[in-house]
Amino acid sequence: MRETDFLVIGSGIAGLSFALKCAKEFPDRKVLVITKAKADETNTKYAQGGVAVVSDTTHDSIEQHVQDTLIAGDGLCNQNMVRMLVTEGPARVEEIIEWGARFDKDAAGEFKKGKEGGHSAHRILHHKDVTGLEMERALLEAVKSFSNIELIKHCFVIDLITQHHEGYLVTKSTPNITCFGVYVLNRETNAIDKILSRVTLLASGGVGQVYRTTTNPSIATGDGVAMVYRAKGKIENMEFIQFHPTALYEPGLRGQAFLITEAVRGEGAILRNHQGDDFMKQVDARKDLAPRDIVARAIDAEMKKSGMEFVWLDCTQIDPVQFKSHFPTIYEKCLSIGIDVTKQFIPVAPAAHYSCGGIQTNEWGASSIQRLYACGECASTGVHGANRLASNSLLEAMVFAHRCFDHARTCIDTLSYNYAIPEWSATGTTDPKEMILITQSLKELQQIMSDYVGIVRNDIRLQRASRRLDLLWEETEQLYQNTTVSPQLLELRNMITIGYLIVKCASFRKESRGLHYNTDYPQAAALIQNIVL
Ligand code: SIN
Repeated sequence: MRETDFLVIGSGIAGLSFALKCAKEFPDRKVLVITKAKADETNTKYAQGGVAVVSDTTHDSIEQHVQDTLIAGDGLCNQNMVRMLVTEGPARVEEIIEWGARFDKDAAGEFKKGKEGGHSAHRILHHKDVTGLEMERALLEAVKSFSNIELIKHCFVIDLITQHHEGYLVTKSTPNITCFGVYVLNRETNAIDKILSRVTLLASGGVGQVYRTTTNPSIATGDGVAMVYRAKGKIENMEFIQFHPTALYEPGLRGQAFLITEAVRGEGAILRNHQGDDFMKQVDARKDLAPRDIVARAIDAEMKKSGMEFVWLDCTQIDPVQFKSHFPTIYEKCLSIGIDVTKQFIPVAPAAHYSCGGIQTNEWGASSIQRLYACGECASTGVHGANRLASNSLLEAMVFAHRCFDHARTCIDTLSYNYAIPEWSATGTTDPKEMILITQSLKELQQIMSDYVGIVRNDIRLQRASRRLDLLWEETEQLYQNTTVSPQLLELRNMITIGYLIVKCASFRKESRGLHYNTDYPQAAALIQNIVL
């Protein structure tokens, strides 16, 4: 058993920002960060485009950034939260620069600012085409200078500990459900440990692996959201899964697809169909820089029309020197598969990218479970509404990590450990006999979600998905009850829960809005509401 004052689950930008702030403010308190893979294997690392922030009020304004976010969110954003995000963003960016993150500057020493879909101004700060990697590097480096932060890698969180583990009946209507820590599977020893905490932050990232292709790494299995749902906490708006319009298309690829950042379109790249037409002109006045939901849907329609699995991204009109300097990683990646982007088009297709809903949190990042905060992609703060504005995610992670810290610091002294929590019991379970039972179910899940619950949905597809997921759930639950746990089994169980939450929320939303498009209800409804499970 371990004890820690602050327990942080996840080592991306949200978790590390919170950990650093807690460690600095409370040098005598312990901060424990746990992550299920390597320390830097996070969604943060793969964010290419950058951070949307108002850093120059001559050509941009807070109000413009607020309005762009609200428009992209298609009526469902929480306006107060959006205003908080945009207003507090510049201070958080200053802070991460102090921690060592570097953003590209021009010869005059001014930040270079990129543009992406839905933005009315150039405001995206970036580090070439590897902004997330640079921010993650800086934060991990900063963590090393705090002796009161411990970072444990390869440690899989199985479940949040609540009153349920003391033997009480906990339901959705139980008042004051409280998080006392977590049970974890130590991947190096295979032991299941109990970690008690005063405060816990879930910064466990996204859910992209629920789909066949995604820009997310293999760790993005929705663990945090699934755990909160099991612990009877509130989850909302899971139907809003953002598909990034331009992942590199590689025939037969499953899993993580290479991202072609939207910033490339910000520099002038154009989407073309198989006749060579720049089809976005017909779809939206903002053309290739319309918000992502609109661009991804237009690409999906073009793919269905042509029967092809991709469209083209034409970068040939971008100055080659400028392309190689701003996007060196994309240039090299394409070259490695035989595409010279300065002369040839890139084949691209939409891929699951970002979950706009998640664990319901308030303005302090507090979830519906006491002593449990959530921030970053796993949280639903209300800033993204029905469709996240490009490059607002790193900003949201920093702003709300600070807010979680601001709240947690006021109550940490009043909280104590709950020593009545029992150890994990594995009684009655045996080692799994064959992994095929897990790997095949995962393929089925990804197939169901991609074919029935992708960019375009309808009621019959959702009903079919729901029935098939029920069967997968039943079979996986049997495995979970009878076999010793493995990361693969735990992830599958979490991903089926995520699939269920997406389908359930999608079935309740009888309209089309933002990222949720149902051909049976093609219009937005008059009554706008969050769907809370
Ligand atoms: C991109 O660079 O296009 C992705 C960044 C984001 O998801 O905001």
